[in-house]
Amino acid sequence: MIAPILIKNAKCVSSQAIIQQDVLLKDGKIVEIGQIDEKHAEKIIDASHFFLLPGALDPQVHFRDPGMTWKEDLRTGSMAAAAGGVTSFFDMPNTKPSTITLDAMAERKRAAAEKCVVNYNFFIGATNTNLDVLNGVENVPGIKIFMGSSTGDLLVSDTSDLEQIFANGSRLIAVHAEDDDIINAAREIYRNSRDFNHHQFVRPADAALKSTTLAVELAIKYQRRLHILHLTSLDEVRYLEFQKSKAPISAEVCPQHLLLSAPYVYEKLGAYAQMNPPIRDMNHSEALWKGLMDGVIDCIATDHAPHTHEEKAKPFGEAPSGMPGVETSLPLMLDRANRGLCKLEDVVKWMCEKPVELYRVKNKGQIKVGFDADLVLVDMQKEKTIENGKLFTKVNWSPFDGWKTRGWPVKTLVNGQIVFDDGMVNTEVKGREILIDS
Ligand code: DOR
Repeated sequence: MIAPILIKNAKCVSSQAIIQQDVLLKDGKIVEIGQIDEKHAEKIIDASHFFLLPGALDPQVHFRDPGMTWKEDLRTGSMAAAAGGVTSFFDMPNTKPSTITLDAMAERKRAAAEKCVVNYNFFIGATNTNLDVLNGVENVPGIKIFMGSSTGDLLVSDTSDLEQIFANGSRLIAVHAEDDDIINAAREIYRNSRDFNHHQFVRPADAALKSTTLAVELAIKYQRRLHILHLTSLDEVRYLEFQKSKAPISAEVCPQHLLLSAPYVYEKLGAYAQMNPPIRDMNHSEALWKGLMDGVIDCIATDHAPHTHEEKAKPFGEAPSGMPGVETSLPLMLDRANRGLCKLEDVVKWMCEKPVELYRVKNKGQIKVGFDADLVLVDMQKEKTIENGKLFTKVNWSPFDGWKTRGWPVKTLVNGQIVFDDGMVNTEVKGREILIDS
């Protein structure tokens, strides 16, 4: 039994409206919304100064567990999520071993039940030979295909192998879309470079467009649900604008690609700015923002992909790609809303409602009676500086180190329990497996 909590006078945010009301939580669910008598609750939260948002769902993280837990594990990654107002996540299969078998999936879910303080589920990773697993595994958000190689050894790049996956089955396919041949040719050109700014040219925009085009063509041919992970280029936004209606196709963007741009980010951060697909110049970041505002891009994910300081200290060509982000994505977007660049309602649409809708998640993403009590209370006036060394992610750095932003989560609730409060995470709280409508 979880003690009932009454949240009083919160400004409840959906993509459609902001309404000030009370919300009663009982046994992990939202049980009543409106004007509610205090006698119904054991704990009352006065939220008159706060906004109440559905907890965010980050549909792309790499929590490194199992196999690379010196970078992150399910406990620390989920703690970082809780601190950032993210109450649910979908984790990627490039673990060690890769999550490509039924046993590996079962083991991840077992570990998550023990370690996670927020709700979880895991993509099943595609190989050239595990089609039966891709279609046989139960209750997963989707199939992850690395169409271009990145961290780890998962890769399906041959059109005939891809065709097999798209042609068989019906669950959502999420793709890391970068063309390996273009990348390999470009890598040769920059083989002797020591300049991190060249990362964007080693993985050029045409590699992303070529691979996205192939995925979209296959999705149209087989009318398959397709999600393009971490969109990075103007070219892809333009292309998708005219293709999206031809099949159930969606796309996401990361705050890094929206808010950081080349060459400055590489000059300032070196290896810490390196991720795949890469951060490109401002023409791209501006087009991504416009694509998001226009609805060509559906939602926000972080691709939270931590690597240690030691690993990032390696020279260009050897340093790994990836950066953390699950803890800072919502604050960064709240800050955008505070600056008038978008509305708070948009943030809820991109980070709560849309990912839930696209991935067919049951009972989440809205403040609604009967839905799971995954919520985040936000103080839109609170200012704080993102600082390396003061984060919950195990690697304890952020590409946004030094950014002072306004609008921060003050309390996060998972299944009706307070998991993050006043800067602290309660590790006694346990997340649950996220249920997906197949
Ligand atoms: O930069 C990246 N790092 N992109 C990915 O797709 C994978 C990730 C990682 O796992 O390190």
